[in-house]
Amino acid sequence: MPIFFQQQINDTTRLGIWKIEEPEAFFEHNVPVKQQVTHPHKRLQHFAGRFLLPYLYPAFPYRLIQIADTKKPFLANEEYHFSISHCGDYAAAIVSKTARVGIDIEIPTPKIEKIAHKFLNDNEKTSFGMTDNRQLTLLWSAKESVFKWYGDGQVDFSDHILLGKNELSESLIHCHFTKTAIELQIHYHHFEDIVLTWVMS
Ligand SMILES: CC(C)(COP(=O)(O)OP(=O)(O)OC[C@H]1O[C@@H](n2cnc3c(N)ncnc32)[C@H](O)[C@@H]1OP(=O)(O)O)[C@@H](O)C(=O)NCCC(=O)NCCS
Repeated sequence: MPIFFQQQINDTTRLGIWKIEEPEAFFEHNVPVKQQVTHPHKRLQHFAGRFLLPYLYPAFPYRLIQIADTKKPFLANEEYHFSISHCGDYAAAIVSKTARVGIDIEIPTPKIEKIAHKFLNDNEKTSFGMTDNRQLTLLWSAKESVFKWYGDGQVDFSDHILLGKNELSESLIHCHFTKTAIELQIHYHHFEDIVLTWVMS
């Protein structure tokens, strides 16, 4: 299957999710990448993520991608801001000509219950509840998106990323990011197999 989901967020920002059903050669042919990834499925995911960048913006100069010390990929001239995520047979990317962005996709599993107490603070545990795997995965994904949007690492998920319910919209989560004292709105979407979150500011 080619594109699984695509969204034109605004005039300068696009998002896509690819369901990976192609062999590695398909992606390799389209986006030869420099990074060495030894695990075959992780390499396929990596290729698919890179492939999405020029898929969303055909002029995207993926050959100019650099990797920061924090492992965040970036373009030195900031012509485009972008973020990538992959899980299972899916890869997702968000690309913006104007705003910093972060994206994450996750497959909900019961394993999330074991780590929820580490990434959620007491207020979040009270307001969102701790019972539903899908909900816990959504909150984890939301924090991963903020982590990638920030990009500089050294983020404590429980202390620096404070999530709250958005009273005006059920498809948004409110976030106060204490490291830069900024308010963010995290967008999310539940698909059958995966949860998508993204943030832009
Ligand atoms: C780096 C990290 C965000 C990757 O997340 P993941 O779930 O393993 O993988 P994803 O597929 O969603 O994302 C991987 C992509 O994120 C991007 N990425 C990696 N490091 C990044 C960073 N520091 N900032 C932004 N983006 C980053 C890359 O594009 C990478 O894909 P690529 O190497 O194929 O290009 C994650 O491993 C991490 O470190 N999270 C923070 C952990 C933490 O502090 N937890 C505290 C819990 S209490």
